[in-house]
Amino acid sequence: MKLTIQQLLAAMWQDYLALTPDAKPIHQLFARQNQGVVVNDHIALRTFNLDKVALDKIARPFLAAGYQSADDYQFPAKKLYARYFQHPDETLPKVFISELKVAELPDNCQKIIHDLVAQVPESTVDEQTFCYSGRPWRLSIDQYQTLAAQSEYAAWVAAHGFRPNHFTVSINHLRSHQDIHSLNQLLLDNGYTLNSSGGLVKGSPAVLLEQSSTLARKIDVSFDDGVLTIPGCYYEFARRYPMADGRLYQGFVASSADKIFESTDTGRPVP
Ligand code: NI
Repeated sequence: MKLTIQQLLAAMWQDYLALTPDAKPIHQLFARQNQGVVVNDHIALRTFNLDKVALDKIARPFLAAGYQSADDYQFPAKKLYARYFQHPDETLPKVFISELKVAELPDNCQKIIHDLVAQVPESTVDEQTFCYSGRPWRLSIDQYQTLAAQSEYAAWVAAHGFRPNHFTVSINHLRSHQDIHSLNQLLLDNGYTLNSSGGLVKGSPAVLLEQSSTLARKIDVSFDDGVLTIPGCYYEFARRYPMADGRLYQGFVASSADKIFESTDTGRPVP
């Protein structure tokens, strides 16, 4: 049975909560202060740029639901390409999909990723629910660690598979907090750890977008040969500013997104 876009997004949210212990209490914190209404600015998905599972495949259910392709971005240092999709119904979150340029990794990592993707049945990718179906391959701890040494992003996708990487609260839609700095302070006061790479706030009013995020909390993940405690997903917060024509800027800022990607890094000291 085909899901409506609202059902698909709701199912993605439920899947995301399972990997993001901080998300539910933070959502409730804002819901209590905003008459139950917390609007998502965007949802982010990650993949590898191999044909079978590439960005355009992940985008299909959203395009089928009326989303339209918008701007794209390059992240050379992280070997990533990304594109976002927007729906004419502005109450629906934007969908930001990134893909790792596999050919730019060392040969041993390329081989691991090709072996993983070879295990994915084509029919699974065609399913509307593929974007939150989880990990469709077997993976050893050694394979995970080999990838993590070269690309935190590759290791994250290998370990978690196809699931929302983060949801993002639209600060513009919060009555309780219009200022990202006070929002961050509320989260810190409540004991949450924020990503401080490049400062707590990425971007500025001058670039029309301010963003911050929690640091992905570590969760237990099963591998073929054991369990590791590794970063899950994070929660992001975005405030948009109006362009010259008065409409809110809807795009992204590559230098900010570059730092936000690090919210799932394993190597960060946990304060
Ligand atoms: Ni984001």
